[in-house]
Amino acid sequence: MSEWKKICLVTDIPVLGSRCVARPQGVDVAVFRNDENQVFALLDRCPHKGGPLSQGIVFGTSVACPLHNWTIGMEDGCAKSPDEGCTPKFAVKVEDGMVHLDAVELATHAIDLPRPVAGPLRKETASAS
Ligand code: FES
Repeated sequence: MSEWKKICLVTDIPVLGSRCVARPQGVDVAVFRNDENQVFALLDRCPHKGGPLSQGIVFGTSVACPLHNWTIGMEDGCAKSPDEGCTPKFAVKVEDGMVHLDAVELATHAIDLPRPVAGPLRKETASAS
């Protein structure tokens, strides 16, 4: 049985916008609201190069990534053809106007995926002295 965690009111999410839910481990979760008051939750990480989907443009049941404009379906987290790849999605429950996420999923789902980094990747080197 799922344990649901209260996140915010649907009306706290801008229409055709999103809010981020920070997690102690792993990438934040982006919670989106479309113009029909449907709510979706995806890892805030584009399947292309990790762009912040929470800053994308919401339309219908999709969000356009702000970095290279891939279209990601908010129902399944997958890129629309011809692009490929999916970002993890999260279960959402809306009850009496309150948005809930599954507490276990929030704590454990996709926490192994690295946070996107800005700029070139730096190679860490250990010094043996
Ligand atoms: S990072 Fe999202 S389209 Fe490239």
